[in-house]
Amino acid sequence: MTDYTELIKRIKELKKEKNAIILGHNYMDYAVQLVSDFTGDSYDLAVKAMKTNADIIVFAGVYFMAEQAAALNQDKLVLSPDPKAGCTLSDALDVETLKKFKEEYPSAPVVLYINTSIYAKALADYIVTSSTAVKIVKAIDSDIVLFGPDANLANYVEKKTGKKIIKVPPNGRCLVHASYVKQFVEMARKKYPNAVLMAHPESPLEILEAADFVGSTNQMIKFAKESKYKEFIVATEIGMLNALKLQVPDKVFYPLISTESCACARCPYMAMITLEKIKNSLENEVTKVIVPKDVAEKAKEAFERTMKLLE
Ligand code: 13P
Ligand code: SF4
Repeated sequence: MTDYTELIKRIKELKKEKNAIILGHNYMDYAVQLVSDFTGDSYDLAVKAMKTNADIIVFAGVYFMAEQAAALNQDKLVLSPDPKAGCTLSDALDVETLKKFKEEYPSAPVVLYINTSIYAKALADYIVTSSTAVKIVKAIDSDIVLFGPDANLANYVEKKTGKKIIKVPPNGRCLVHASYVKQFVEMARKKYPNAVLMAHPESPLEILEAADFVGSTNQMIKFAKESKYKEFIVATEIGMLNALKLQVPDKVFYPLISTESCACARCPYMAMITLEKIKNSLENEVTKVIVPKDVAEKAKEAFERTMKLLE
């Protein structure tokens, strides 16, 4: 096992020297979560980014998350340890496609999942996350909404709200969750008969219908902490087991599918964020996440409008 002691020590020194914080997504490697000042889901980290007094935010997550933090904090330096850490969902929706759908459905509010580029978000009315999507769509005063880019989350929101959801684009998917099939659930239930199944809403509807609990990564942590059950099958990206082990150490977690059985278990983009890259990012102040002011303002307005609906 790699000894990260020196690297972790250096990262901690750099954070102090530069008044920097590290925001780490729940899917990060175990050691990355250890050096993070806050770990959380997409919504929680966006709010943490808005509230920090640090001068520098290093975003240990994929690029759209760093962009979101930069848009919410235009006076702060936001760094991405690897700006090539993309996402198949954010890649699924380009601005031109979104504009076409908006023209076709001019009266439908535009609800975008946080997994989108900041340029698409600037055209949205609301920006939701896996923890807020159902609540926001229910609260919007319209029976029809444009929703993108995750078709699986769109199906789930449609089922939970009964509203008409126009998917934009029609078939955006997360490469991890889209790989889940009912057979994985049957296999895992057989192997772990005492475990309950928690699933992320980016999963296909057949997985969500078979789950005992559906929620965002933070909601899974809360559910596992408060549950009377001791064992859990986790239907989301496998890095999530690091967050669960760290925050719910007295319970047992199994992945729905392991990396040995399917490479699809680990998101290749999340895996690009390493301790070495975080140290480099802090040391050399790279890569700066730049969002044009007008784009940032519009995306921030949509995010704040969404937060108001949650109050
Ligand atoms: P949450 O952490 O917001 O549940 O979403 C996970 C995700 O899709 C990150 O890629
Ligand atoms: Fe995107 Fe899926 Fe990777 Fe999350 S796990 S960053 S949704 S590809």
